[in-house]
Amino acid sequence: MIQIKLKNVSLNFPIYSEVTRSFKKTLVKKIIGGNITQLKEHYHVEALSKINLQLKHGDRLGISGPNGSGKTTLLRVLSGILHPSDGEVKINGVLVPFIDLHYGLNIEASGLENIKMRCILLGMNFKDLDEIIEKIIDFSELGKYIYMPVKTYSSGMIMRLVFSILSMIKSDIIIMDEWLSVGDSDFLIKANKRLNKMIDDSSILVIASHSNELLDNICNKRIELVEGKIR
Ligand SMILES: Nc1ncnc2c1ncn2[C@@H]1O[C@H](COP(=O)(O)OP(=O)(O)OP(=O)(O)O)[C@@H](O)[C@H]1O
Ligand SMILES: [Mg+2]
Repeated sequence: MIQIKLKNVSLNFPIYSEVTRSFKKTLVKKIIGGNITQLKEHYHVEALSKINLQLKHGDRLGISGPNGSGKTTLLRVLSGILHPSDGEVKINGVLVPFIDLHYGLNIEASGLENIKMRCILLGMNFKDLDEIIEKIIDFSELGKYIYMPVKTYSSGMIMRLVFSILSMIKSDIIIMDEWLSVGDSDFLIKANKRLNKMIDDSSILVIASHSNELLDNICNKRIELVEGKIR
């Protein structure tokens, strides 16, 4: 059964910096960011605090909240990029995170080599690999750049490359940090179409956004994070 279950999930980021000294002197009233607390002699940002969440087939969860309230951190925990300091995370299903798109690329390698590496890491079937790679290259419309090292790519070209790879995965769960802003307008139209189809075919969607309008349009469940807690 495809599902997401978080039980009492908390995540603290330790702060190691000269900045921490000045915390003792300054008490600034703030509404952004996680709560900054002192555990023994160390300071931590409580990015997430005791999050409980249960999602099942058909759920489209929208996450809102001010800057630094823990949205991206929560998505990273759901995606397995970050492990919680406390609590339990249970995910059943193939999950595709459309977050941190540029992470894990080898910038010295070509776009094509990165496609091959990513497909193999994603466990794609060797039998269909050539066909899948061909489709990814076609969709990306990177032309000759596919043979160039990724370090020569513009940010839009990197997004084209990674989106083209990720959107080939048959996913049960889709995780997004804001809606797509990949490439130029022509590519965006094409990518939006593919993404909408992916979401329709998926079981669970979790998206964080500052646009209430967007969340109202695509989500059937909502949470708001404030200082790392569900309000
Ligand atoms: N790698 C990190 N190291 C230390 N603190 C971090 C790190 N990443 C995030 N934080 C802190 O964790 C808290 C939550 O950050 P997060 O990026 O999850 O917020 P957000 O809700 O996604 O914000 P935004 O709306 O700006 O995208 C913030 O206080 C931030 O400063
Ligand atoms: Mg964020």
